[in-house]
Parts: sequence; C-alpha cells; structure tokens
Amino acid sequence: MKALVLAGGKGTRLRPLTHTSAKQLVPIANKPVLYYGLEAIRDAGITEVGIIVGDTAREVREAVGDGSRFGLEVTYIPQEEPLGLAHCVLIAGDFLGDEPFVMYLGDNFLVNGIADLVDAYRRADYDAQILLTKVAEPQLYGVAELGPDGEIIGLEEKPKHPRSDLAIVGVYTFSPAIHDAVRAISPSPRGELEVTDAIRWLVDNGYRVHSHLVSGYWKDTGRLQDMLECNRIVLETIERDIKGTVDGLSDITGRVVIEPGAVVEHSVIRGPAVLGANTKIIGSYIGPYTSVGEGCVLEGAEVEYSIILGESSIIGVSGLTNSLIGRNVEVTRATGLPNMNQLMVGDHSKIQVRA
Ligand code: DAU
Repeated sequence: MKALVLAGGKGTRLRPLTHTSAKQLVPIANKPVLYYGLEAIRDAGITEVGIIVGDTAREVREAVGDGSRFGLEVTYIPQEEPLGLAHCVLIAGDFLGDEPFVMYLGDNFLVNGIADLVDAYRRADYDAQILLTKVAEPQLYGVAELGPDGEIIGLEEKPKHPRSDLAIVGVYTFSPAIHDAVRAISPSPRGELEVTDAIRWLVDNGYRVHSHLVSGYWKDTGRLQDMLECNRIVLETIERDIKGTVDGLSDITGRVVIEPGAVVEHSVIRGPAVLGANTKIIGSYIGPYTSVGEGCVLEGAEVEYSIILGESSIIGVSGLTNSLIGRNVEVTRATGLPNMNQLMVGDHSKIQVRA
C-alpha cells in the first residue's frame, strides 16, 4: 500500500501567513502540521509516499527532504495548478500504479493517527473507504448523506444546503478503481476536479464504498480557530522538558517545553506551552496553550492560547489571546501622541483591538 499526500494548493484562507509559506507547514506545537500526517502514515506501516507539491514546492521539499528522517521514501509530484483533489490522483497515476493507497490531505490532523483505518481497509475488500465526522458547518466541507442502513446515498462538495451534518474527513483509502473515476468526472463549478465527485462516481457505478464515523479527533487546519484548537490538543500531550535556561526569578508551572538555547528571565510560564530554540522571554507571562517558535523575543508581554511563529517579537504588549502571529512580526507598544494604535498589516489579515 502506498500513500499520496496533498501539499499543493494555495492556502488562501490563512493569508497572508501562507502567502509565501505552505499552509501544510504551519506549526502546531512548533512542528509543521504535515509532519504529523507523515508520522501517522509511517505508523500505519506505509513507507512509499508521493507528495503533491505546487507553488510552495521548494519549502515543502526543504522541510521533508527524502523522507528518511520519518522512515519514509518520498517521491515529489509537481502539480502546475491546484486543479483539484481528484486532479492530484490523476497526475499521481504513474507513482501509484495499481496498488491501493491512502490519500492524506496535508493540512488535516487526526489525533489518533490512521493505523486503525488502514488496518480496517486492509482486512476488507472496498474500492474506497471514507471517514465522516459530524460538524457544525457542513457547507464548508464535502458532505455525505447516509441511508437507513448506513449506506452512502449522496455526496456533495461544499453544498449550499447540506443534507446532513456529516463532513468528509481528508483521509481516504482507495483501490485502483479510483483511477477510472477521476478520468470519468468533469470539473465542478469552481473549476476543480473534486474527489467527492470521483467517490460519488464509484458509488453510482456499483463499486463498494464504505464510510466510517471517526471516533478520534479531526481538524482541517485551514482556519485560525481550528489551528489554535489543534495546538491545544497537541500541547495537552506534551511532557515537561526544560533544556533552555531559566533564572531564579521565573516561575515555570506544569507541562512546559523549553528548547535548547531559549532563555527565560523574570517571567511566569504556565503550561502546557512550548518555547522554541533561542527564544528569549523576559519579564513576560506566557499562559496555557501557547506555542512560541524559535528565535522570538517576548519582553514585557502577556500572551496565552496563541501560536507565534519564529523570529517574531512582542515587546511591552499584554492581553494577547486567540492569536496567530506570523514569522518576523513585530508587535510593540505605541508611545507618544496621538494616543492611538498604529498598524502595518499585510493583505487579508485580521486584527481585533480592545479599544
Ligand atoms: O478537510 C476536508 C475537506 O478537504 C473535505 O471535506 C472536502 O471534501 C475536500 O474537498 C477538501 O476540501 P478543502 O477545501 O479543505 O480542500 P483544500 O483546497 O484545502 O485542499 C486540501 C489539501 O490538498 C491542501 O493541503 C491543499 C492540497 N491541494 C488542494 C488542491 C485543490 C493540492 O495539493 N492540490 C489541489 O489541486
């Protein structure tokens, strides 16, 4: 069995954060979300992985390399335009050959991994296995409608009027029958070859498509609240590990990871939290569920329930929560007159000020 990981696309929903960097590389507890997927694939006993890459190919290749660090053999499959999830299957045809495979969307996160799912597929004889989970806003996802015996009677991509609250999770297992399906379908109104349509084609043409309700936790990390929630869930599982330097005036409570070269002075850190390598925390409070990347400086800052990417600084600013701060960002206190906020913010950003 092989795996096909989708790490192309444009990632518009997290702009400008993903304007230059792949959304699959956004860190969750200081580790790119894509790594969790690759580790889950390896833990399911799969070693041959094809990764679809697009505009951000260089960054993805730099981050993953030849895959040996994960115990995987990685083949990169360039996609010129993000023409849809089924298009990815189409261009991966040579790599996949006639083996069954797992398709894993690189921005999806499954807390309990995929080993059980892959085992279930290996034991059964399905042409496709999909995972479903109840969501509050099904119109944002592929949606399945089930009949009285749990059989799939409808599948629609991002329907305006969803017929159920069962979203399709971004991990699928397929037999080679999917290759006929992706060749048979046409682009959707948004111009993409939808994998949801390919699966519906399998159902309509009498192939065996099995659906399975996800018991573990799943998130599509494409949006801020989902990322912060994933960050919380991963931080819940960390163990205290202090490799950096903490002075006698600081108070470190609970499960806190302080990576090598990080320095904490005169500060309060309440876990779970991670502080990246070479980050400096001075006279600051870092509250629960916060990940601070490498090489940051936080001085006179108060932050909780947030993700801060590498090389950023927060100086003299308190009351930050529910925030995602990109790379090389400066957040500082405004001084002098007029007594007003001063912002220099990239396109498609979102700022909420307590005025
Ligand atoms: O997350 C689950 C949802 O994922 C499903 O419920 C939907 O049925 C499915 O279509 C998909 O919807 P999204 O709108 O979330 O897909 P997105 O465009 O975010 O792409 C998912 C991943 O695949 C992402 O890592 C980017 C990558 N991708 C996407 C496209 C369209 C590619 O590599 N190439 C592409 O052409």
